Amino acid sequence: MEPNFEKKILCIGAGYVGGPTMAMIAAKCPQYRVTVVDINAERIAQWNSDALPIYEPGLDAVVAAARGRNLFFSTDIEDGIRQADIIFVSVNTPTKTYGLGAGMAADLQYWEKTARTILACAESPKIIVEKSTLPVKTALAMERILKSNDSHVHFEVLSNPEFLAEGTAIRDLENPDRVLVGSRLTESGLQARDQLVEIYRNWVPTESIITSDIWSSELSKLVSNAFLAQRISSINAISALCEKTDADVTRVAGAVGRDKRIGSRFLNASVGFGGSCFKKDILNLVYICRFYGLDDVAEYWEKVVHINDYQKERFVRLMLTAMFNTLAGKKICILGFAFKADTGDTRESPAIHVCKRLLEEKAELVVSDPKALDNARRDLGAAGKRVSYVKDPYEAAEGAHALAVMTEWALYRELDFRRIYRCMAKPAFVFDGRNIVDHRKLHDIGFNVYAIGKPPLTHFD
Ligand code: UDX
Ligand code: ADP
Repeated sequence: MEPNFEKKILCIGAGYVGGPTMAMIAAKCPQYRVTVVDINAERIAQWNSDALPIYEPGLDAVVAAARGRNLFFSTDIEDGIRQADIIFVSVNTPTKTYGLGAGMAADLQYWEKTARTILACAESPKIIVEKSTLPVKTALAMERILKSNDSHVHFEVLSNPEFLAEGTAIRDLENPDRVLVGSRLTESGLQARDQLVEIYRNWVPTESIITSDIWSSELSKLVSNAFLAQRISSINAISALCEKTDADVTRVAGAVGRDKRIGSRFLNASVGFGGSCFKKDILNLVYICRFYGLDDVAEYWEKVVHINDYQKERFVRLMLTAMFNTLAGKKICILGFAFKADTGDTRESPAIHVCKRLLEEKAELVVSDPKALDNARRDLGAAGKRVSYVKDPYEAAEGAHALAVMTEWALYRELDFRRIYRCMAKPAFVFDGRNIVDHRKLHDIGFNVYAIGKPPLTHFD
């Protein structure tokens, strides 16, 4: 017989957020039964196998500890809803690609469908927790849908944005800077809030759990991501100026970041930020500002995305100019395709733009990545014959005219660049889009080295 669980928790959406978050709750709270459901049967089968659908350091062990004990993955969404006391919603909310707000607003179709399914299936009171990042006031829309028929089931909607970053999800979940819970400030809202807070109290110190009204909670998530992305665009904008003035962006960031008010983290100049959140959330913020007539505020935040696009394109042009203004027929080895290290995720990866542009210039690409080659194949699928995919970086670099470092995988720091240099076409180029390899050492080996925000190190007069 199944043990008597204190609470039954359901999560709708078994993606990068829902899967790891629920695995952590289940691992930390054996007294709760946690079920994760998804419409994608293949994904659920992977969560139930030894080959999880996402790569995340430490995730396998957390899942293994709880799966089958108090953590379950299933496609039976309706039964999951009926059984649950608390329902987390972490379905995808991509940017709209059609109609009003296309390219800006969040596409809420998956989310609304979920709200309607909850309404149709629930037979007892539920607490609904927004986990997906959503536009401000989405909870209000959720409440309206849930109150739209005559069922007398009471729903209480909470906002509990997830701040985990991919690649460090398990660490972030285990030891979060803060957990944010937004609720209605009514008696039933506060009771629901306390129930959610009680879950996190199992492992998160009380002082790290912040409570607020729902709207502030929803907005805080968008603003956190906007601020983080803004830091990257700020240092990337300065990297362009460094390249013109022979300054070194790493030194500038180091000196600036020593000011405690500014802080040293998230100041690494790069080929650009990627990931499913930053661009989407900023565009969301921009859309909301426009909606309320705050055009100047909208424009201010839009520039963060603009600089990111500029940075990716600048990198392509740097490659083109350095390689004598032609890339036609040249073989370029792309080191890394994931949007950051320690993940196989390629959503919005700067490598996508760079590769597509290099192909437009008629280059031949060999893409290498330890975890993201399947996604890379999907992203560049239509590009056809001029791209090949090779996991081993040494094999990928054979005969290449240039290496382009697109992801900060630790293994790229440790490569035997002498060996790589020997088997490349000459003159050999390195374009370091992440400033991670030892530029002086590579220059000494014979490479012409171009990095972000640094004077180039070349062997040309
Ligand atoms: C981000 C937020 O950090 C997280 O709190 C939120 O919940 C989801 O969005 P994520 O997109 O997973 O997380 O990764 P993050 O570490 O923020 O990196 C985003 C992008 O910025 C990556 O492409 C990364 O390489 C780039 N980056 C990061 C830089 O270019 N420079 C930096 O200094 C830091
Ligand atoms: P995130 O990065 O926000 O977690 P993902 O795209 O990785 O986003 O995951 C979202 C998941 O939500 C996907 O696995 C998708 O199949 C699932 N999903 C979307 N709509 C529904 C729905 N109506 N019911 C259940 N799951 C859904």
